[in-house]
Amino acid sequence: MTLAAPLNLLRQARARFTQREIAAHVGKDIKTVRRWEKGETPCPAMLEPALRDLLQQSARTSGGTAGDAQFRFIDLFAGIGGIRMGFEAHGGDCVFTSEWNDFSTRTYRENYPGSGEHALIGDIVAFPAEEVPGHDVLLGGFPCQPFSIAGVSKKNALGRPHGFECTTQGTLFFDVARIIAAKRPAAFLLENVKNLLSHDKGRTFDVILQTLRDELGYEVHYRVIDGQHFTPQHRERIIIVGFRGKTGFSWDDLHLPEEGPRLGSILHRTDGSEPVLPWDHDRFFDHTAQRAQPKYTLTPNLWTYLQNYAAKHRAAGNGFGFGMAYPDSVTRTLSARYHKDGSEILVYQGESLRPRRLTPRECARLMGFPDTFRIPVSDTQAYRQFGNSVVMPVMREVARIMLPHVQTLLAEDDPHGAKQALSLYA
Ligand SMILES: C[S@@+](CC[C@H](N)C(=O)[O-])C[C@H]1O[C@@H](n2cnc3c(N)ncnc32)[C@H](O)[C@@H]1O
Repeated sequence: MTLAAPLNLLRQARARFTQREIAAHVGKDIKTVRRWEKGETPCPAMLEPALRDLLQQSARTSGGTAGDAQFRFIDLFAGIGGIRMGFEAHGGDCVFTSEWNDFSTRTYRENYPGSGEHALIGDIVAFPAEEVPGHDVLLGGFPCQPFSIAGVSKKNALGRPHGFECTTQGTLFFDVARIIAAKRPAAFLLENVKNLLSHDKGRTFDVILQTLRDELGYEVHYRVIDGQHFTPQHRERIIIVGFRGKTGFSWDDLHLPEEGPRLGSILHRTDGSEPVLPWDHDRFFDHTAQRAQPKYTLTPNLWTYLQNYAAKHRAAGNGFGFGMAYPDSVTRTLSARYHKDGSEILVYQGESLRPRRLTPRECARLMGFPDTFRIPVSDTQAYRQFGNSVVMPVMREVARIMLPHVQTLLAEDDPHGAKQALSLYA
């Protein structure tokens, strides 16, 4: 990510907004915005998502309606809409959402006010595919638990089946497949943990590919992408994209910055420059004391426990333990369990101080969400939601390279493939 990109976005935003409006949106004062614009100080790369968000809002409010949208998409297993945000950034209009967790839908509704205008349903398994509105792109980060190593060993230990044999979560891929079969979108994007590739010696992934390619007749491409190209987090996820017809899609078109940002760029700043976000106030950061709220610092008991635990595993030759992170670090993967002890990412606070957890606002940044993203739920729920989500800029980049091919396909007819596929899934 270069510094030129945010400055460019700032200039675009200035064509539509005053310095005051931009300052309020990004949580800075007018003088700072003026300095960026004049080039007196560089416009920070971290602002890029917030500026894109502002430009997008303006597109929506200046008469941008579903009719003007470049493509329509549906958001399955939506969580807090990380994939959605990446596709909205390129002019997509969401026409249907499925998410069954009440806490996640609270965050979702708060951040995508337009989601009140279309169906936001709960359990997708119970929902008839024919009633899903027509769409051009299907998005789905289907739950990874049955495919992850942790999930497999836990289920094996309980003597239960896993993957596709599992009668509950393992079948969720087939809910994606039956909707693709019924609605024949021009394209889809599915996201999952990297372990999906190796699960059950690769058989699980073979079944997925076979279903998408042979049964549904889509051109399918997949690639593991590490979020650390965009945010200071090592987070490898498999992205599977498919197209209804033949395209010239190539992963080579991805722009993955070689040198991603470091942890220091997303931590609350203690030099007086941390913005006061009107929706957070002092919830995560005490602007008077200029430090993260004390509750994020580990208690003496927890810190002693984690150190002993790490020492025990080191002695046994295992690599397990906590992950201390410094301003120049790239962190481990944020998990949905982060709220439990925060051990995978502990922020160093000095030799004589105990480390702290990331605050939920820092987790949002670590996942590439702009500071305009509202966190209306408890810390526990927020950690769970961000840990389950996606590195949003990865999705935005994949959307960018998919969309020219989507547009080409939209200009073509869907041949009788639809009928054939429907008969398989009826
Ligand atoms: C891995 S998360 C996806 C997160 C999402 N990509 C994001 O950016 O936040 C999977 C989501 O699927 C939801 N889910 C699981 N089973 C579901 C079902 N049967 N119907 C609807 N949602 C479901 C979970 O509540 C969870 O939020």
